[in-house]
Amino acid sequence: MGRFVFVLLILMCCSSSRFTGAYDPIDPNGNITIVWDFQSLDVAGMTPYTVMVSIHNYQMYRHIERPGWRLSWSWAGKEVIWSTTGAETTEQGDCSRVGSGGSRPHCCQKRPVMVDLPPGTPYNMQVANCCRGGVLSSLVQSDLTSAAAFQMVVGEFALARDSGGKEPEKPWQFDMGVPGYTCSNATTVAPTRIKVDKNRYVQALLTWQVTCSYSQYRASAAPSCCVSMTTFYSETIVDCPRCSCGCQGSPPSPQCVSVDQQQPWLPAVGDDEPSSAPIVWCSEHMCPIRVHWHVKTNYRKYWRVKVTVSNYNLARNYSDWNLVLQHPNLRSLTQLFSFNYRPLVEYGAYNDTGMFWGLRYYNEMLLQDGNVQSEMILEKESDFTYSGGWAFPRRVYFNGQECVMPPADQYPVLPNGASALRGHFCFLLLLFFVVV
Ligand SMILES: *[C@@H]1O[C@H](CO)[C@@H](O)[C@H](O)[C@H]1NC(C)=O
Ligand SMILES: *[C@@H]1O[C@H](CO)[C@@H](O)[C@H](O)[C@H]1NC(C)=O
Ligand SMILES: *[C@@H]1O[C@H](CO)[C@@H](O)[C@H](O)[C@H]1NC(C)=O
Ligand SMILES: *[C@@H]1O[C@H](CO)[C@@H](O)[C@H](O)[C@H]1NC(C)=O
Repeated sequence: MGRFVFVLLILMCCSSSRFTGAYDPIDPNGNITIVWDFQSLDVAGMTPYTVMVSIHNYQMYRHIERPGWRLSWSWAGKEVIWSTTGAETTEQGDCSRVGSGGSRPHCCQKRPVMVDLPPGTPYNMQVANCCRGGVLSSLVQSDLTSAAAFQMVVGEFALARDSGGKEPEKPWQFDMGVPGYTCSNATTVAPTRIKVDKNRYVQALLTWQVTCSYSQYRASAAPSCCVSMTTFYSETIVDCPRCSCGCQGSPPSPQCVSVDQQQPWLPAVGDDEPSSAPIVWCSEHMCPIRVHWHVKTNYRKYWRVKVTVSNYNLARNYSDWNLVLQHPNLRSLTQLFSFNYRPLVEYGAYNDTGMFWGLRYYNEMLLQDGNVQSEMILEKESDFTYSGGWAFPRRVYFNGQECVMPPADQYPVLPNGASALRGHFCFLLLLFFVVV
């Protein structure tokens, strides 16, 4: 009975597993929160205000990779940014109407685009948490580097009527500059309190908050990752589905190189400007990333799985990569080699989704044309079975992008015909309804 339910689950996964909204069942509270803490604000005198803007990644497994965030917003009025620390705007814009000579503002654009400064920025140009080139770690991988901050001095502002003249008009149309994220308008929240010593808190004069959420559906049309499978009990190699990430030669598919082609044509990709468009080895699936799940060994009370993540992208190293796997047996993960692990979804008996990432100084970087691998030993539970595709992951995400799974009717089957997956698929579906 259980396996028929599973077959149906797989069917559902195949047809419509990509989230259409921003809701992510693996990380329901995940968001990026932008906070504006006013450090000086002279409402009467209309002198420029100083604000510390911080960006907090509250997502368990999604991170912001290079080229990093590019935060933009639209000013409500004629605001100008006199100066910044820890970040800079990409353009100064037309400052001819404000200031003179050497004292022109940093930015006079109606819609500034703020970018983080690179690592190694001189100390006097930094604020705490700045200067990581726009990279934000996921909360699980490193909560120490999951936030960013910059300070700016803003002048020429008007006061909002609906605040009774107590706060500046709020900017709007916030954008992270990272595909897939949409941001709310700013709202006034309780002022941020910061502990300065054992007994004392100081508080911001005024705090605004913006929440940005992610949707893979909005991020990109094409997947960037696929799953293949093998087992010790079957000769079948289930490769990634054909055209998982595009078909060779058709427009949305990545540029590809065949194995016999030589290196020289490869564009020189510097470390500073990672190309966003992948260049991959030519393959049936055309994905930059392939996750291979191998059911390796059977023991009396345990079974062993080998997971290999291969990077087919010739123009890209994935630093701080992560992998999210959903499998009902993860709650009995007994031993794991060469990856870090943390369960993500844990409530009641429901504990089937976990996050894997590389070990520091060992395999935290997935190199271009390279791979990382791990083996895990899982304890067999009462529902354990090699049949019905139970031994394969239900969902796989690489760096927060859901991977394309092979169709369930192609999964390796047990040699003695014990599998529920032999035979026609529609028949199984029919059987499911009959059984229910
Ligand atoms: C954003 O994330 C924080 C931290 O997990 C959470 O407290 C807050 O409710 C979230 N906000 C929204 C709008 O989801
Ligand atoms: C955001 O604020 C702008 C300007 O105040 C307003 O026009 C817009 O409707 C607001 N959007 C939402 C979603 O509330
Ligand atoms: C990836 O890392 C390797 C080794 O550190 C380096 O040689 C190579 O240039 C890097 N590639 C890219 C695209 O950054
Ligand atoms: C979930 O699985 C992890 C790893 O196997 C385990 O440490 C944790 O206690 C489990 N949580 C629940 C609620 O079962």
